[in-house]
Order: sequence, then structure tokens, then C-alpha cells
Amino acid sequence: MDFQHIQIVLFTTFGLILVLIVYFVMRQILSYQRKRDEQEHRERTQVTFVVDTFHDLMSKLKEKERELEALRSRAEERASSVELYNENIIQSVPSGVVSFDQDLRITRINHAALAILGLSEAETIGKTSAEIFQSPIREMIADRKVLERAETAYTCGSGKRLWIGLALSPLKDSVPSVIGHLLVFTDLTELKAFQSQKELRDRLSTLGEMSAGIAHELRNPMAVISGYTRILSKKVDDPLRPAVAAINKEIMVMDRIIGDFLTFARPADPVFGKIDLADLLKSCVETIEESAQNIRILMDAPAEIMIRADEVFMRQAISNLLQNAVEAMPEGGEINISCAVEGDKRLLTLADTGHGIPENIRDKIFLPFYTTKEHGTGLGLAIVHKIIVSHNGAISVDSSPQGTAFTIVFPKEVVVNNLS
Ligand SMILES: Nc1ncnc2c1ncn2[C@@H]1O[C@H](COP(=O)(O)OP(=O)(O)OP(=O)(O)O)[C@@H](O)[C@H]1O
Ligand SMILES: [Mg+2]
Repeated sequence: MDFQHIQIVLFTTFGLILVLIVYFVMRQILSYQRKRDEQEHRERTQVTFVVDTFHDLMSKLKEKERELEALRSRAEERASSVELYNENIIQSVPSGVVSFDQDLRITRINHAALAILGLSEAETIGKTSAEIFQSPIREMIADRKVLERAETAYTCGSGKRLWIGLALSPLKDSVPSVIGHLLVFTDLTELKAFQSQKELRDRLSTLGEMSAGIAHELRNPMAVISGYTRILSKKVDDPLRPAVAAINKEIMVMDRIIGDFLTFARPADPVFGKIDLADLLKSCVETIEESAQNIRILMDAPAEIMIRADEVFMRQAISNLLQNAVEAMPEGGEINISCAVEGDKRLLTLADTGHGIPENIRDKIFLPFYTTKEHGTGLGLAIVHKIIVSHNGAISVDSSPQGTAFTIVFPKEVVVNNLS
């Protein structure tokens, strides 16, 4: 082998070795790249997984949040509808409901309570019981009494007199611990007036029946005495005549009283007709004005208050009240007559500025023969009462040393609408 051949073999071998080296290097590079690609791919897959899981979690969380929101708003709706329902109940009950906190400040008060007390919500919320209530309810609340059922006379701050039925109890929460006090009260004024009118009516009818019999029996012996005095007056000598005349006079007085009483005891049988109250009042006032010296009579009666009543009886009732008012003001004064429309009812008030009726005799004045006057028979108000009751009405009295007011309430069945 010559040198040239050796050179070719060496070059070829060297070339082969180089190709092999390049081949291996390339293979290594390719394999490294593939591994890197695989690694990258794996990493990418992991990130995608994490991101997907994250999105999934987020959307689940959002869904839960939406569900929670829906639940919360449903719970809120329920709570507010329960609250509204409770509020509606409290506002709709006809009884007054007032709640106080531990310091006896008013926290809630319903419409009925405001109407009975004649106050507004703004005047009461946050105020203490002592600022709003008068005695004796004020003391009952202050003593934090527990009362299941009590009744009391009550004069509002405005001077309105009421008869109140009430219950007082501690106000408890769900634990239950005491968080304040609760007052529930009802205006029993009308009911009480109705009850006392009924009691009076019952007493009067028993009394009337009994004494009408006695009065009737008295008339016969009186007629006999009267007959004898007439004979005596003709037979006795002059000095005795005045005595016989005095006996006769007294018998006539007694006869008038018995006559009046029998009229009172007879059942009232009203003949109903349509009458204009203002016209009737005017004519009664005209009649009384002649005997009422130094007395100013003021009338506030809107025209066309029509009632269905017995005109003769009504005239008698109003005249008796006016007569009493005049007699209560010997030194002069004022009579105020007013008519008012209250819902279905009509109210007639006759107020005087006379000496008033002492409290201790107020429940006797409607009884027959009860009088404080020297020449009174005590039948005036008994007759008034009987007439008003026969019209299904009611009469009440309010009196102080500054004057007396009689109020007649005509019920809706007696009221005539202008259209009817
Ligand atoms: N307006 C009044 N002011 C003060 N007292 C009154 C008034 N009205 C009635 N009274 C009292 O009531 C009593 C009874 O009244 P009533 O009208 O029944 O009888 P009388 O007026 O005494 O007698 P009669 O009316 O039969 O003449 C009266 O005696 C009086 O004491
Ligand atoms: Mg009288």
C-alpha cells in the first residue's frame, strides 16, 4: 500500500468517525429537545389542569354564592313579611297597644292607642310613660304592675274623660328575658255609659211600677179628703176657713205631683216623625227665653240634622234640660247648645255656666223625685231619661263647679239621612 492509499483510508476513516460523531451529537440534541418538549407539554398540561380546576372551583363558588344570596333574600322576605304581618295585626286590633323599654320609654304605639289618647305617633315615641299617661295609669306602669284585667276612670291630658279597661305585662323576648313592658287597653266609656243607663232603666222601671201603684192608691183617699174639705169650707166659721183653704191647696199640690208621676210612670209610646233638630231647638229656646233673664243662649246647630223622633216628647225633654240650666244660673250666665255629627250618630249638647252638680249626687239626678230644689218635683230629668231611652238614645252628664253639660246621643236608627 502506498502512501496515497493510506491517506485515503485515513481520510475515509476520519470522515466516518466525524459523521458518526455528528450523528450521535445530533441524536443527543434531538433526544434532549424531545424530552424538553415532553417536559414542556407535561408542564403545560399541569397548568391547564390547575387553571381548569381553579375555574371549576370558581364557578362552583359563584353558584353557591348565588344560592346563598337567594336563600338570604328569601329569609329577608320572610322576616319582613312576618314583621309586616305582626305590624298589621297590632295596627288593626281595636285595643290600644303600647310597648315600653326597660326605662319605660315608649317604643311602639298602635293606631287605636293614639286614637283613644288623642295623640300622634310623633308626640309619643321615645317619651316616658310619665310624660304621656296621667294618674292612675301612670302609677300602674311606673310600679311595673302585672295586671290581667283592670278597669279605671281616666282623664286624658286633653281633659277627655274615659273609662279604661287595661292589662299590663312584662314584654319578653325569645330567650325569654324581660326587655320591657306592654300595655293593652280598651276604651270602655260607651259600654260603661250603656251599662249604667241600662241599670238606671231597670231601677226606674221597677221603681216606676211599684210607685205607680202606690200613687194610684193614694188618689182615692185624697179625693175623699178633698171632698170633705169642700164640705168643711162651707160649714166652718170664718176663723177656720183659711186653714181649710190651706189643706185644699196642699191637696191640689199633691194631686199635681201624683198626676205628674203617673204621666212619668205611664209607658212612653213615641209617635215617630221626621224632625229638623235645629228647628226644634230654636222653638224650645224661644219658649224658654221669656223666663230666662240675664241668660245668653248661643246655638251652633247646622241646618238639616234630621232625626226620626216624637216631636212632643223631644220638645218636653229639651225644655226640661233648658229649664234646669236656667234654674242653675239664678245670677245669669250662658247656655251653649251644639249639635255634632259623629259617624252614624248625632250628638246634642246643652251646656250651662251654672253652679254644677256635686259629684256625690250625680248618679241620683235621673231618679224620679230626686230634687235639690225647694219647689222641684224631681221628675224633670227622670222624664228626659225616659224619653231619650224610648228613642234608643243615651244621655250623659258632665259637670264641674263651672257648669254642667248634658249630651244626648241619637243612635243611627233615629238619624235620617238627607237623602231619605
Ligand atoms: N243644669 C243643671 N245644673 C245643676 N244642677 C242640675 C242641673 N240639672 C239638674 N240638676 C240637678 O238635678 C236635680 C234633678 O233635676 P230634675 O230636673 O229631675 O228635677 P228638678 O229640676 O229638681 O225638679 P223638676 O224638674 O221636677 O221641677 C235638680 O234638683 C238639680 O239638683
Ligand atoms: Mg228640672
